[in-house]
Amino acid sequence: MKNLKDLKLAIIGLGYVGLPLAVEFGRKRPVVGFDINSKRIEDLKQGKDVTRETTKEKLKAAVHLKYTDNPQELKSCNCFIVTVPTPIDNHKRPDLTMLRQASETVGKSLKKGDFVVYESTVYPGVTEEECVPIIEQISGLKFNQDFFWGYSPERINPGDPSHRITEIKKITSGSTPESAELIDALYKEIITAGTHKAESIRAMVKNKIRIEESKVLILGLDFKENCPDIRNTRVVDIVRDFQDLNCHVDVYDLWVSEEDALKELGAAAIRTLGKSQHILYDLKYVLPPEFSDIRL
Ligand SMILES: NC(=O)c1ccc[n+]([C@@H]2O[C@H](COP(=O)([O-])OP(=O)(O)OC[C@H]3O[C@@H](n4cnc5c(N)ncnc54)[C@H](O)[C@@H]3O)[C@@H](O)[C@H]2O)c1
Repeated sequence: MKNLKDLKLAIIGLGYVGLPLAVEFGRKRPVVGFDINSKRIEDLKQGKDVTRETTKEKLKAAVHLKYTDNPQELKSCNCFIVTVPTPIDNHKRPDLTMLRQASETVGKSLKKGDFVVYESTVYPGVTEEECVPIIEQISGLKFNQDFFWGYSPERINPGDPSHRITEIKKITSGSTPESAELIDALYKEIITAGTHKAESIRAMVKNKIRIEESKVLILGLDFKENCPDIRNTRVVDIVRDFQDLNCHVDVYDLWVSEEDALKELGAAAIRTLGKSQHILYDLKYVLPPEFSDIRL
């Protein structure tokens, strides 16, 4: 396992999330900032950030940060942090095209002992099920044997100058206990608000917590904190995943109305909460008529 001081970072995707991250690390250690958008790279080389998430002074202070659109320059790196967009498609599903492309790029430069950290917002399982196989196929390396993986979702709110990246507690995780330690230590270098090293659902299995029939409380249902908008929330997918595992799920959110939440959850998911013989009574016309057994 590598030492913290040996990590040479690549940040893949220099947008609202990637650039501030690259700039913070670039004050401390070598960083290659890579983006497929050549215009963006040209602008950054000239100290111009069109997203306005950084300042000229901050860009200047990042003395170890180099910008490039040439993937060959990633070969010198050994820790790849992916911050490419994951837009939502017409079916409200994340479009993983750019994430897959970025995984191909990483796969071409990955060497034995390297790390890949995903910061892009994805639902649970995407990195292992979608990205890792691409990296394995392209690099010819074996996951958790030759290379390691981490996840650290970005939680910034662009345009909010009072909560910059370093001031928001960062969640970190790794594919092995050792890689989790290293990734956590890496982020501690720049996050003044501190980090939280997360356990995964697998951690439950290891601790002999019986998944089936376990009682899961999910705190927060909305799309982002302190907002009642649940239209694009993917917490619903997490609820369904736990329900598929036969867990009992409760969701608590101060900001979301029960009515809206039930609408989003849908009749099928509500029915999984009932016994096999049950009646779904839609008192408030929350569901389309054909989905309930009785309405007023
Ligand atoms: N912006 C936010 O509010 C915010 C907050 C938290 C998390 N996130 C998540 O962070 C991720 C990045 O979001 P963003 O707002 O920074 O996106 P963005 O659109 O601002 O920037 C992404 C950058 O990635 C580049 N890119 C695209 N494909 C690439 C590839 N294959 N290789 C290299 N570069 C590539 C683009 O050219 C662009 O410059 C998304 O998953 C998003 O959901 C965003």
